[in-house]
Amino acid sequence: MSDYQNDIDDEYVIRLVNLCKSYQVGDMEVPILKDINLSVKKGEFVAIMGPSGSGKSTLMNMIGCLDRPTCGQVIVMGMDINELSDLELARLRGFEIGFVFQNFNLVPRLTAVQNVALPTYANNKPGVNGNKRAKELLEMVGLSDRMNYKPSELSGGQQQRVSIARALVNTPSLILADEPTGNLDSKTGDGIMNILATLHKKGRTIIMITHAPDLAEFADRVVYLRDGEINAK
Ligand SMILES: Nc1ncnc2c1ncn2[C@@H]1O[C@H](COP(=O)(O)OP(=O)(O)O)[C@@H](O)[C@H]1O
Ligand SMILES: [Mg+2]
Repeated sequence: MSDYQNDIDDEYVIRLVNLCKSYQVGDMEVPILKDINLSVKKGEFVAIMGPSGSGKSTLMNMIGCLDRPTCGQVIVMGMDINELSDLELARLRGFEIGFVFQNFNLVPRLTAVQNVALPTYANNKPGVNGNKRAKELLEMVGLSDRMNYKPSELSGGQQQRVSIARALVNTPSLILADEPTGNLDSKTGDGIMNILATLHKKGRTIIMITHAPDLAEFADRVVYLRDGEINAK
């Protein structure tokens, strides 16, 4: 990623251009995402909605560089991921994208601080003290008294706070959240949404998948996915 800095596109964090994604099932190629065009500007909060099976998580995997397109382009911070090696892609993902999942995806045997600091070990940014930053972020999400608890000793809402702190630890350009409140009761979910709304106010770029129309109201813009296609409404 040598000309990394030169390639940075100022306006858009992510651009999907005529993106399609198919899965190979036996002998058949099953199209899941069909000719998706979507651009997200720096600082935007975009909600993605759509029925179950419409391709929301597949789209998130593409935006999050967890997988490669079947055709078309995924451009992250001005870089076309088709042109990156697997190693470069992994580094791009580690530096530029913070993930928040429905089921938290924390490492059970690690404490909250260790979970949050973990991505800094894999992607060591010079001059960053992972543990110190992890503690600051846990304070920010209201968990200063739970730093050394393990996931099993935390409530669902607390675990999701840890995972938000983890998503922020490498100061990513983009936060991707796939139904972040899907496993939480509505009051706990509101707390999580407030954290995301605050991050957005501070200028973070967020793409959130949700089933719930009231949560989509937090976003600047709602994108509807149906049968793998984006509908304007
Ligand atoms: N790895 C895979 N192999 C084959 N089919 C898949 C795979 N992942 C998802 N699909 C299919 O893609 C479609 C969209 O799935 P998904 O993106 O998870 O939808 P959503 O998140 O909107 O519920 C579904 O029909 C699902 O069965
Ligand atoms: Mg899904």
